Amino acid sequence: MFNITTFNKISNEGLKHFDKDSYSLTPDDISNADGVVLRSYKMHDTVLPDTLKAIARAGAGTNNVPVEKCSEKGIVVFNAPGANANGVKEMTLLALLASSRKVNDGIKWVNNLDGDVEKQVEKGKSQFAGPEIMGKTLGVVGLGAIGVLVANMGIKLGMKVIGYDPYISVQKAIGLSWDVKYSSSLDELFGQADYVSLHIPLVDKTKGFMDEENISKMKKGARLINMSRGGLVNDAAILKAIDEGRVSSFVTDFPTDDLINKNGVVCIPHLGASTPESEENCARMVVNQLIDYLENGNITNS
Ligand code: MLT
Repeated sequence: MFNITTFNKISNEGLKHFDKDSYSLTPDDISNADGVVLRSYKMHDTVLPDTLKAIARAGAGTNNVPVEKCSEKGIVVFNAPGANANGVKEMTLLALLASSRKVNDGIKWVNNLDGDVEKQVEKGKSQFAGPEIMGKTLGVVGLGAIGVLVANMGIKLGMKVIGYDPYISVQKAIGLSWDVKYSSSLDELFGQADYVSLHIPLVDKTKGFMDEENISKMKKGARLINMSRGGLVNDAAILKAIDEGRVSSFVTDFPTDDLINKNGVVCIPHLGASTPESEENCARMVVNQLIDYLENGNITNS
């Protein structure tokens, strides 16, 4: 019998379930735990008890887990790659459209009208017009589980799609439509894409990936979408590019103080994977991995 502690809205019958108010875990929360299952809770390296054998993060990223410290202490970290891919893909569709159709500004505007709404809508709506995505070029950076789904979705929507991934060749991007043009050159993707959608993890190498230099390589008037991780895009650089009219818009699932309420920026409060389906898929995947490890010593994280 193992002591497994779960945090957040992960309900797995038979597992102890907490809904905490605080965002960070304290040593008391997990003292004596053999395994921890968490989603958004931030785990500091100071709270790792000696009993702990594994941490399971019910999501794709492991940025809230002290992975290096866990490796040093022999604590295995599981995550759920792909389990929320459809949720994020669907949110990317919303982001693609929101980057084009100014629906965010339009909704804010219409909700602030005070009277004579029908007349004002007919008079004022033209300021929110924006282009259709069909026939345009979508550049997908990162062809993991989510990137592949997004690229294939672009094809189904009648877009031209260019995919880039520094680690996966086109043959290995499992399930990638043959209609997606695979490019081994980021510059080519940036030069051709009307929409650039990021689907890469945040690691040391990718921090500030969309900096002034890479943003300057984007086609004039292109739109940038970040449904992956905050920290991939340099806020100051993207705001400058929008101000100067080089980039038309930026939609991000990772708002910051600098980005909210800025012209040309649509902030979504990290909702990409916030669907009951994604949450359940992630929870099931990591709990199965965790139990298999604690009971049988198997490490099945893919
Ligand atoms: C993930 O890493 O899978 C998502 O960002 C999950 C979340 O909403 O925290």
